[in-house]
Amino acid sequence: MARPRLMKPPASEEEFLAYSKIAETAFATPRKESLEYFERTGHDTIRLYHDRGELAGGLVILPMAQWFGGRAVPMGGIAAVAVDPQFRDRGVAGGMMAAAVREMYQRGQVLSTLYPATLPLYRRAGYELAGTIHEIKLPPRDLVERERKLTMEEITPEAFPEIQRAYRLYARQHNGPLDRIRYFWQRVQKPFGMPPTRGYAIRRGRKLEGYVYAVTKPQDQGYQLLRIFDYAVLTPAAMRRLLTFIADHRTLCESAIWYGTPSDPLLLVMAEHTYRIRLLGQWMLRIVDLAGALEARGYPRGVKGRVQLRVRDEILRANNGAFVLEVEGGRARVRPGGKGSVKLHIRSLAPLYSGHMTPEVLAAAGQLEATPRQMATLTSIFAGPAPWMADLF
Ligand SMILES: CC(C)(COP(=O)(O)OP(=O)(O)OC[C@H]1O[C@@H](n2cnc3c(N)ncnc32)[C@H](O)[C@@H]1OP(=O)(O)O)[C@@H](O)C(=O)NCCC(=O)NCCS
Repeated sequence: MARPRLMKPPASEEEFLAYSKIAETAFATPRKESLEYFERTGHDTIRLYHDRGELAGGLVILPMAQWFGGRAVPMGGIAAVAVDPQFRDRGVAGGMMAAAVREMYQRGQVLSTLYPATLPLYRRAGYELAGTIHEIKLPPRDLVERERKLTMEEITPEAFPEIQRAYRLYARQHNGPLDRIRYFWQRVQKPFGMPPTRGYAIRRGRKLEGYVYAVTKPQDQGYQLLRIFDYAVLTPAAMRRLLTFIADHRTLCESAIWYGTPSDPLLLVMAEHTYRIRLLGQWMLRIVDLAGALEARGYPRGVKGRVQLRVRDEILRANNGAFVLEVEGGRARVRPGGKGSVKLHIRSLAPLYSGHMTPEVLAAAGQLEATPRQMATLTSIFAGPAPWMADLF
């Protein structure tokens, strides 16, 4: 691991453009798209890394939160990790990740999440695979749902705060969805490289029960694709209304596509299983502040238990050592000390925390040591729906 350093946002427009050029090369992005991307993230989210006075690379830290156990946990989303080809294979990316993890700790971003292009780099920085993003694809003509008691109307700017509230109500029922910042709402309404989406509110009278943002995209021979960028459906009737909306595109849309999870209740409401589910990717999670992260998430209300952890973290000293985790009434308390009989690396705590892996799976992979009794306690503490998210970054 390279020496820890402080990374800073671009000091000038020239420095920003130099980093943008590195990112364009790294991700094969046209300049116009790259500038638009950083315009949306904000230049203050960029952190640059210098090697002997020269700009070597940079990344973006998006300040947001992620839902776990019904609570939004402060999280830094890492994106646009790029190193100039001339500086590669010298530990620059490793150094950038260590610096980013330290900065997030200082800022109270107790978690960090990213979509990896390679695992070893991020594992070394304390991240581990901890959740999924799936693509769900179905032919609208196969849907039999016809629910028209609920109305659908185009979302007005005045209705937008209500839409955001509906998203939060929906997201908090799951493990993993983002507590979105403006950047993600912009992406939902105006995806990169696509026409703007149209948003529709699903209502029972005046009461909002869901919403959807979608766009139709031309395909071969006059056919189209219905690309759904976002939805939240809060009642079974709203789920059927959304399915009806998709079915209403059946004359010209051969497929409808959205990103989500196989454990979405929407799929359970569907009469038939004519969809195809494909794993698009897995995201990695880093427990940045062990005590802060464990205390910030929610837990199953009926669970009461205590585990004695012993954790290793090469980057953040505060996460090293023995800790007692006590869970009761849906909340956790963490204090230093105890016997430290459950042994694991900070990296392996991530899939346990998110519910992506059980303690048994981690033990089988040689990443956790615990007695059968402690394993059972850990299993009940971290039980919950499979972690997922629908947003890419
Ligand atoms: C990935 C990237 C950021 C690595 O930068 P770097 O400064 O060369 O990386 P480091 O020298 O710190 O290497 C750290 C680890 O990253 C991994 N890594 C580095 N370059 C890699 C490559 N080209 N392919 C796969 N893994 C690579 C290796 O595991 C390496 O560890 P090792 O030296 O023990 O094998 C750089 O190659 C890059 O900008 N690539 C294009 C953009 C990209 O893929 N970004 C990541 C998006 S998530």
